[in-house]
Amino acid sequence: MKQNGISLHPLDMAAASEPELLCIFGPRDLGRSLGLRLLQSGYGVTYGSRRPHSCGPLLQGAQVMTHAEAVLVDLSNNLKKGIYTQKPTLNSCQQHLPNTFPSVFLCGESEEAKQAVAHLASKLGLTVLVKGSLSAELEDLPLKLFPEWRLPLSIAVGLTSFFFFYLLIRDVIHAHVENKDEISYRIMVSLANKLCPIVALVMLSLRYLPGVIEQMGLVALGYAFLHAIYTFIIPICYSVRHKLISGVVDEVHPPFYFDNTEAGATVSFISLGILGFFLFVLLGLTSLPSVGGSLSWREFNFIQSELGHLTLFICMAHCYIYGWNKFLQPSTCKWYTPPGYMLYLIVSSVVLVLKLLLLLPCVDRTPTQIRQGWEQTQPK
Ligand code: HEM
Repeated sequence: MKQNGISLHPLDMAAASEPELLCIFGPRDLGRSLGLRLLQSGYGVTYGSRRPHSCGPLLQGAQVMTHAEAVLVDLSNNLKKGIYTQKPTLNSCQQHLPNTFPSVFLCGESEEAKQAVAHLASKLGLTVLVKGSLSAELEDLPLKLFPEWRLPLSIAVGLTSFFFFYLLIRDVIHAHVENKDEISYRIMVSLANKLCPIVALVMLSLRYLPGVIEQMGLVALGYAFLHAIYTFIIPICYSVRHKLISGVVDEVHPPFYFDNTEAGATVSFISLGILGFFLFVLLGLTSLPSVGGSLSWREFNFIQSELGHLTLFICMAHCYIYGWNKFLQPSTCKWYTPPGYMLYLIVSSVVLVLKLLLLLPCVDRTPTQIRQGWEQTQPK
C-alpha cells in the first residue's frame, strides 16, 4: 500500500483481527501525523495528554487519556533541563532533527522498548536510526546553543588571541618602543588584515587533520572573507593613501625604473589570492547541508578532499609569493620574531616536508612491510 509517497506495510492477519494498541505522548501536529500513519497501518492509537479534555479534535478511531494512563512513544519537546526525567522511556524528536523524514531517531533507556518501536517504525516505512539513552542523546539537544560550533569557535578565539598579541607586539609596540612611532590606528585595519588570513590558513590546515569537524572550514572561510574585504578597503585609508603618494613623489626623482620582477610577483600573488578565495567559497558552499545534499558522495568527497587540498596549496602559494623577497631579510624579524604569516609558513612547511619524507620509498618500506605482514596473517 502506498500513501503520500510512503510505503505502508499491512499488519499480519492476527494483528489485523485484533489491532495492537499504541500510546503517543502529545496529541499535537507531530503526534497526529504519526497517529494517522499508525491508524492507516492497522494499529490502535491512544494519546497521552496533560489536558485530555481540551486537546482539540482527535483522529477518527483514536482516543485520549492522561500521561499516567498512556505509555510508550513520547513526541514532546524539552523546554527545561531535566523536565522529562519522570517520563516514560522513549522519545522521537523529529522536530529537532532535520531531514529525519522518512528517517527517525530513536532514543531510550530500555533496549526492549527501543526494539519494539524500531519494529513498529519500520512497518510504517520509516528508516530507524537507533541512538543511545534519552538524556545523553536527544532530550537536552534543543537547549544546547551551537553545540557543534563550540570546538571550531574556541579554536578560532584561541588563534585570534594568540596572533593578535603576536602582531600587536611586532607591529605596534615594537614601533612605539624602538622608534617612538604612534601607530596604534593600524590595529583596526592593517593588523586585522594580517590576523584574518593567518587564522584562516591555520584553520584550513587544521581542517585536514583526521577527526576534525566540518565547521572548522566554514569559520576559516569567514576569516578569509574578512581578509578579502579589508584588502579592498585598505587603499581608501588615509595612512595608506599618504604612504602611496609619498612613494610616488620619491619615485619621480631619478633613477625611476619599473621593476618587472616586483610587478610579476604582485600580480601573481593577487591572482593566487583571488583564485584561492574562489575555491575557499566553493568549499564553504558545499559544506552547507542544502548544497552538499544535492551532490553524490563521490562529488562531495572530491570537492572536500582534492579541491580542499588545492585550495590550501594555492592560498599558501599566495602567501609565499607575497613574502618571497622578505624571507631572508633580517629587518623583517622584530625582536627576533618573524612576521605572523612566516611563522605559519615555517611550521606548515616543516609538517609538509616531514609528511613527504614519510612517503620516500626507503622510509615507507618498513611501514608497508608491516602492513603487508599484518594483512597476510589475517585469518581468511
Ligand atoms: C596578504 C590580497 C585571499 C592569505 C595579502 C595582501 C594582499 C592580499 C593585498 C597583503 C596585505 C598587506 O600588505 O598587509 C588578497 C586578495 C584575496 C586574498 C585580493 C582574494 C580576494 C587570500 C586567501 C588567503 C590569504 C583566501 C588564505 C586564507 C593571506 C596571507 C597574507 C595575505 C596569510 C599575509 C598577511 C600578512 O601580512 O601577515 N593578501 N588575498 N589571502 N593573504 Fe591574501
